Parts: sequence; structure tokens; C-alpha cells
Amino acid sequence: MKKTVLSGIRPTGNLHLGNYFGAVRSFVKMQHDYNCFFFIADIHSLTTHPTPENLQAGVKQVLAEYLACGIDPDVATIYIQSDVPEVTELYTYLNMNAYLGELERTTSFKDKARQQPDNVNAGLLTYPVLMAADIIIHKANFVPVGKDQEQNLEMARKFAKRFNHMYNHRVFPMPKPYTFDGKDMVKVPGLDGSGKMGKSEGNGIYLYEDPADIRKKVMRAVTDSGPTQPNQKKPEPIENLFTLMKIVSSPDVVAFFDEQYNNCAIRYGDMKKQLAEDIISFTSPIRERILEIRDNDAYLAKVASEGAERARVSARKTLDEVRKVMGIKRLF
Ligand code: TRP
Repeated sequence: MKKTVLSGIRPTGNLHLGNYFGAVRSFVKMQHDYNCFFFIADIHSLTTHPTPENLQAGVKQVLAEYLACGIDPDVATIYIQSDVPEVTELYTYLNMNAYLGELERTTSFKDKARQQPDNVNAGLLTYPVLMAADIIIHKANFVPVGKDQEQNLEMARKFAKRFNHMYNHRVFPMPKPYTFDGKDMVKVPGLDGSGKMGKSEGNGIYLYEDPADIRKKVMRAVTDSGPTQPNQKKPEPIENLFTLMKIVSSPDVVAFFDEQYNNCAIRYGDMKKQLAEDIISFTSPIRERILEIRDNDAYLAKVASEGAERARVSARKTLDEVRKVMGIKRLF
């Protein structure tokens, strides 16, 4: 039996190269080896009060982007969280055994409460409970998570274990973090001199981005005044440029600029121009697919409803077990 993998994404922004090389590309491979659920966490995103229009547009965009990247709805189960009401039912039950103290101590809650002090709602507090419901409703064995979601996954394990213990039934397996092995995952650096590419870092280059905007962003990348000695070690901003180039350019292009750097003959402007064009060659076909899919409402509707149907079958099965062990059943 294939193990189950589950991943959720909030529909709050477009996918950037960091998302692609960090996770999405691996999902595309994993879908053949695991029983995969990929869903769009639209209910989670309500904690920040998006307008209905923005919420809808976000859901559609992420769905189109996942499909454009190669997640195959005939292979993996791709669905929208709010299409599976079983999730929120399980969330309600799990809330009875989630304690105020532990929820208040969660790092993501404390961060959010600081970021939006005028909107510290109960949904924010119970965010990890809903996330636990997402995961254990399909009895997921693995959840690919970055650093920022590790604690939420730990809470999911805690709630699952607590439930099993309380009702003395091993309903839920413990969901483990899934780490992509080194060769699969590439950490994409930012172009602002240090660190990784991320939405919150504000340094993303998006799969969906217009080529002219990509050129502008790359040309603005931080560099220095150039090497002064042959074969000098590259400082971080320059190393980052090379790292990005290794991801999108051909090896001979990388070797050419590497040699130029080592000979102190490098012209960063030329390197950036080349890098921008190679990023664009990489993103353009994906961008075109995103546009095509996003305009195809009939196709999106079909994918979403078939995904929801499959997810609901899996969720229903777990929820029936849950209700039974809890003693929730019709009396009349
Ligand atoms: N909290 C996750 C994020 O912000 C999104 C998410 C919601 C999720 N439910 C999940 C991720 C379940 C993994 C599993 O990135």
C-alpha cells in the first residue's frame, strides 16, 4: 500500500521560483510514488479577512499554477478545502481537546497576533487545529513542511495522539514531516544580497511574472564592485547570482561567467542580462500554461469537483470512524 502524503497551501500569493524548486517540482515527482492529496487552504486564509473577490481569484490562481507545474489531477487528489465539509466537522471535534494555553503559546499565533493586532480572532488561535484536521482526516503519513510549519505539524501529532488516547482507539496514524532529499530540493536564494527567496521577504520572482518585470528585478539584483584578485571567494550576493544561474542556465553559461569572475573580467550587467533571459525561458512556458488553464473555467470546475469528490470519500471514511468512537450517532 502506498503511503499517504498531504500538503496544503494558502491561496494568498503566486508561486515563485523558491516554491517551485523547493517543493512543487518534488510534488510532481512524488505524486507517482505516494497517495497524494494537495489542497488549497481557503478557510485558513479567512483568518486575514480577504474580500470574496480576492479569495476566489487566489484559489483559482493557485489551482491553475499547480496544474501548470504538472500536478496531475488524474494521479493526485487536488481539491479546495472548503469543498470538503468533513474537514470542518473534524475541526469542531478536535477543538474540544485543544487547550487555550498550548494554542496561545504557538509561535505562528504569536507572530500573527503581532502582525494584525486589530484582528486576533479565534480562527487564528485554532489555526493549528484546522491544520491538524486537514492532515489526519486522510490519515496522512507524511506532510512536507518547511521550518515555519514544523510546530503546526507537531501540534497535529499531539492532537491525533490525544484523540487516539482519549477514545482508546488507534484511529489516526502519526503524521511525520517529509523532507525532500538534498538532490531534489534546491534552496533558491533571493536577489537582494542575502537569504532565500520568499513571499514575505518580498524578493520573489514569480512563475507567472511578466518577462519585462523579471528583467527589471534581475537587473536590480545586489552585486559588488567586482573581484580584485584572481580566484577570489565570492561574497554572498554574487554567490547567490551564480546559484540562481546554476538552476536555470546551461552548465557552459555558468562556467563562462565563473571563469570571467575568476579572471576578474566579469561584467555583472552581462551576467544579469543572461540570467534574466534564462529565467524567462524557464518561466515562460509555465506562465503560458497558467494563463491558458486559468481561462478555462470548465476545466478548473471539473478538476475541483472531481478532486473534492475523491477527497470527500476519504474524509467521510475517517469521520465515520471518529463519530463512532466518540459516541456521536443518530438515536432516532
Ligand atoms: N499552514 C500552511 C501554510 O501556511 C498551509 C496549510 C494548511 C497546510 N493546512 C495544511 C500545510 C496541512 C500542510 C498540511 O503554509
